[in-house]
Amino acid sequence: MFKLNTQHLFQISSEHGISKKEFESKANLIKPYLQKIHAQKQGFYSVIDDKNVVKSINDFAKNLKGQFDDIVVLGIGGSALGTICLQQSLKNLFENCHSCESRNLKSSNSKIPASAGMTEKEKNPNLHIIDNIDPELISELDQILDYKKTLFIVVTKSGSTPETLAQYFYFRQKCDNQKLNPKKHFVFITDPKLGLLRKIANEEKIPIFDVPENVGGRFSVLTAVGLLPAKLIGINIEKLLKGAQKMRDLFLSENFAKNLSFQIATIQYLLSKKQKTITVMMPYAQKLIKFSDWYRQLLAESIGKAQDNNGKTINVGLTPINSLGVTDQHSQSQLYMEGPNDKFFIFIKVLNHGQKIPIPYAPELEYLKNVDFQKLLHTEMQGAMQALTKNNRPNILIEINKIEEENLGELFMLFEGSIAFLGEFFNINAFDQPGVELSKILTKKLLGQKSSNRLSLRYSLL
Ligand code: PA5
Repeated sequence: MFKLNTQHLFQISSEHGISKKEFESKANLIKPYLQKIHAQKQGFYSVIDDKNVVKSINDFAKNLKGQFDDIVVLGIGGSALGTICLQQSLKNLFENCHSCESRNLKSSNSKIPASAGMTEKEKNPNLHIIDNIDPELISELDQILDYKKTLFIVVTKSGSTPETLAQYFYFRQKCDNQKLNPKKHFVFITDPKLGLLRKIANEEKIPIFDVPENVGGRFSVLTAVGLLPAKLIGINIEKLLKGAQKMRDLFLSENFAKNLSFQIATIQYLLSKKQKTITVMMPYAQKLIKFSDWYRQLLAESIGKAQDNNGKTINVGLTPINSLGVTDQHSQSQLYMEGPNDKFFIFIKVLNHGQKIPIPYAPELEYLKNVDFQKLLHTEMQGAMQALTKNNRPNILIEINKIEEENLGELFMLFEGSIAFLGEFFNINAFDQPGVELSKILTKKLLGQKSSNRLSLRYSLL
């Protein structure tokens, strides 16, 4: 079950909201926008049909079974955020918790059940996704790793991002110092032809997976970028892709009522004309907070652009905010209810959070009698949405049945599709990132001035 509920949206005053008529009046744009999207030959909605990738990931994972205690993903931005979301959403929240990561504390993990059909010995490896170059992050990871039992997945579409290459050279040196075979301890995910990693892989026969040429970093979660680490920690990637395929079919539908991606883009675009230039994504689910992180990059980097497709300077963008229900009701809600009316809210509700946990009866809290945690969570969300609506703050609700692979695949594709449509509404290229590229170039230039381009030399840091 996957539902987009716009019920509250049309109750907002015309100054701050949109009418159903206004909303539906954009339906005739689906067809021309889809034509334009197809013309761009972006791969994010077709890669999900690539059975060969799934097969090679499955084969690779089978060969590795039981060999590694820890898997480390080195990557940043779109090369990391989707994987972080997959882990947070689909694995036990405490399976990989930092407080349990010290070898000495490993036993505190023991209450977490191994996945169905697995013995304790076959338990999935820990997954650490290192999307920063903070020295404390690097050194604290170094302290917990047993390199002999660690696999590094190095992910960079361009193969030239300094942060990721620096991480790679650091951990490569650690493995080399212990005389570990790089072919066994490293796997690369990168552009099919270009970049330094591709060159190293070719020279040293390190296993490699492609990020298809026509799939950008922030759209790559459903390629080997997200699928390989997901598979290695026991996530069902076939189901993930099945969900994405279902939503992709809706994304390609010219039927307005079916095309949820188009509907969301329409709402965001129309509301942006009413000064709602901030999108708050607020899942009422602990496991989905990293989904909002993933979406934050997708929206910010895709839609924040200086120029339109005709070269006119427009400095357009929608600012994403991620928020977690109910936690952030106690940190941001005051602003949302009474601060500037410049936000549009996307709530995400999970209908079934698994087993019901009753709240014990206490006569002092009569209103909680017969209430369980899920009911409390849902009711608080309903209260928050109603309050926003009363204050003329536009909001919509996405309802999913459960947090599981298929629904997550649907969510990824829903929002990737909405971004493609938003690009058309704003007449911008949603798939490039000239601003990010500039900072990458300048960083390298600054480093080059100081240290004669050390990062581009394979062995200079070893
Ligand atoms: O979406 C994007 O293209 C970026 O956020 C990239 O993912 C990020 O900059 C990392 O780039 P790369 O994967 O080339 O190392």
